[in-house]
Amino acid sequence: MEHLTKIKEQAKTEIEACEDNASLQQLRILYLGKKGPIQEVMKTMKDLPKEERPAFGAQVNEVKNEISQLLEERKTILEEKEMLETMEQERIDITLSGYRPHMGNMHPLMIVQQELEDIFIGLGYQVAEGPEVECDLYNFERANIPKDHPARDMQDTFFINAEELLRTHTTAVQMRQLEKYHEEGKELIKVICPGKVYRRDDDDATHSHQFMQCEGLVVGKDIQLSDLKGTLSFMAKKMFGDKRIIRFRPSYFQFTEPSVEVDVSCHICGGKGCHVCKGTGWIEILGAGMIHPNVLEMAGFDSTKVSGFAFGMGIERVAMLKYGIDDIRSFYTNDLRFLKMFNRFE
Ligand code: DAH
Repeated sequence: MEHLTKIKEQAKTEIEACEDNASLQQLRILYLGKKGPIQEVMKTMKDLPKEERPAFGAQVNEVKNEISQLLEERKTILEEKEMLETMEQERIDITLSGYRPHMGNMHPLMIVQQELEDIFIGLGYQVAEGPEVECDLYNFERANIPKDHPARDMQDTFFINAEELLRTHTTAVQMRQLEKYHEEGKELIKVICPGKVYRRDDDDATHSHQFMQCEGLVVGKDIQLSDLKGTLSFMAKKMFGDKRIIRFRPSYFQFTEPSVEVDVSCHICGGKGCHVCKGTGWIEILGAGMIHPNVLEMAGFDSTKVSGFAFGMGIERVAMLKYGIDDIRSFYTNDLRFLKMFNRFE
C-alpha cells in the first residue's frame, strides 16, 4: 500500500513538472505501460490470499485511474499553453502599415467630358455616341459638304478607303442622330455627342492628330438662335464660373446658317485682358449655328416645319482653359505626375 502511494506521489511530481506533450507521453508509458510500476504491483496480486485480492486490485486500479487523470489534466494544460505560444508567435501585428493599393484617378479629359454630360443631362439632353471609323456620307455629305467641295480641305482627313475615314468631327454623330430621330418619328431632339476625332495635323502645343470634341444638337418647332445663346450662356457659367458672359461673332460652317463663333469672357482676368485671353478679354471656345435647311432635309426633316441649333467644342481646349494647361500633348503622354494632379477635381 505504501509502495502504491509512493508511486502515485512520484508520478504526480513528475507529471506536474512536465513541460511538453512529448515528455508527458513518455511518462504515460513509464507509469502505466506494461513494464511500469503499476503493472509490477499488479503482478504481486497472485501471491496474496484469495479474499484479499479484490480489495487489492481495486486499490491498484484506483491509483492507476488517478495517475491517468493527472496525465489528462496535464495534457489539457500543456495543449492550451502550446496553443497560446503558437498564437503569440504567429500574431499579425495589425499596427504595421500595409501596402496601399494604387488608386487611379480620372483623366482630365474625362473629367471635362463628364462635367459637360452632367450639365446637359440636367437640361434634358441625351448622350449619344457614334463610330470613329465613319462613312464619307455622315462625316461630309450629310453635313452639307459634298465631294470636291473646298470646305473639305479645312479638315485634313485620314481616309481608310474611298468611302471610310477617321471622323474629323463629332458633327458626323450629329448627322447620324438626326437620321435616327427622324426614322423614329420624334419631334424633339436634344443630344450631345462627345468623342474622339482625327485630323492629319502636325502635333505641337495646340494641335494633335487625335483630339476630342463634344457636339450639341437641338431640333424641334421654333428653335431659335436665342435658344442657342441661352443654352451656351448657361453652359459657360457652369464650366467657367457664374460671372462669365458669352458673345457671338459671325462665322461660317457648311452645316449651319447662320454660323457663329462663340467667345466666353476670360475667367482669368474677368475681361480686362491678360496673357490667357491675349489681351482681348475674350476666349474663343466653340463653333455653333442654326442647322442648315439642307442638313435637315437630307436627314428627312421638313425644314419649313422644324428648325434647330448645333454647336461643337474641343474638349482639350476647355480642359486647357479650365486647368491652365499650356501643351495639348500633356493629355496624351501618360506622365503620372501630370495625371495625378487631377485627383482633386473628381
Ligand atoms: N464641326 C466643327 C469643327 O469641327 C465644329 C462645329 C461648328 C460643330 C459648328 C457644330 C457647329 O455642330 O454647329 O470645326
